[in-house]
Amino acid sequence: MIELVNLSKRFKQMYAVKNLNMFIEKGEIIGLLGPNGAGKSTAISMLSSLIEPTSGDVLYQNKSILKNPSAFRKIVGMVPQDIALYEDLTAEENLMFFGRIYQLSGKELSRKVDEVLEQIGLRDRKKDIVKKFSGGMKRRLNIGVAMLHDPELLIMDEPTVGIDPQSRSYILETVKRFNEERQMTVLYTSHYMEEVEFLCDRIYIMDKGNLIAAGTKDEIKQILSSENTISITVERLNDAFIEALEQHPMTNRVTIGEKEVTILVPRETKAFSEIIKLAESTKLDLVSVDNKTPTLEDVFLHLTGRALRD
Ligand SMILES: Nc1ncnc2c1ncn2[C@@H]1O[C@H](COP(=O)(O)OP(=O)(O)O)[C@@H](O)[C@H]1O
Ligand SMILES: [Mg+2]
Repeated sequence: MIELVNLSKRFKQMYAVKNLNMFIEKGEIIGLLGPNGAGKSTAISMLSSLIEPTSGDVLYQNKSILKNPSAFRKIVGMVPQDIALYEDLTAEENLMFFGRIYQLSGKELSRKVDEVLEQIGLRDRKKDIVKKFSGGMKRRLNIGVAMLHDPELLIMDEPTVGIDPQSRSYILETVKRFNEERQMTVLYTSHYMEEVEFLCDRIYIMDKGNLIAAGTKDEIKQILSSENTISITVERLNDAFIEALEQHPMTNRVTIGEKEVTILVPRETKAFSEIIKLAESTKLDLVSVDNKTPTLEDVFLHLTGRALRD
């Protein structure tokens, strides 16, 4: 349906997005994952023709959207990172206002506004002024605005940042429902790997303007197939154990929590027996030693040496 071809955006000397290649098929939920500053918002602003690329192209059904952006805008619903609503109007008035911008009117507009209010779970709050809404409710209304013209592609830019956990799971469930019931194609941007892991069929991971991994969840986790992640829980950590662990030739990386230690080791290593030996020699009480299933967070750490949230 949509293809990004060598898409780049340079601000002065700095590339916010560099040679991004990506495709989106109809009916997919695509995740765009990356820490702050990775270039996610810049990439989707180019994709939805809000800013012009420095180079590269965006194709919709094999035709460049750069030549005819207004036709493409009709099929895209964009939920921006920053909420854009009129605080002094009610939920319903906001939807009516934005609906008219999308050239809806009369009975069709009222029907659509009612339908959207139902979908975002704000029907009983439609006469309330937006100023009184929680962050999560404003987010939901912003998603409703993007849904008014029945877009083929819904683009969401970090829609769960700064909202309460209940609203967050409501939004995640709503996105899943839009996709399942209406076959809506979704591009979901986030720096929370667990959201992307829950929602998305295929994932692109960006860092510092570059694409560093792409594929299905399983394909991306294959990147770690040469390593095992082992998770150790202890009664009380001691420095001697950590030091011995860090200096041991089997360990590729050690991450230390309060009572938990995570280590990456090459797949073939006899890590369990080595860890037990180290614990005995440093008088450490082990509670458990487990093989951990790798997460997208582990993949990001492996590729960049940093955590996603840094
Ligand atoms: N209009 C702009 N002018 C200059 N630099 C920008 C502009 N927009 C974004 N950037 C820079 O581009 C990089 C990527 O930003 P952004 O796309 O917002 O990342 P993300 O959405 O992944 O957090 C950042 O270093 C940011 O400071
Ligand atoms: Mg952003």
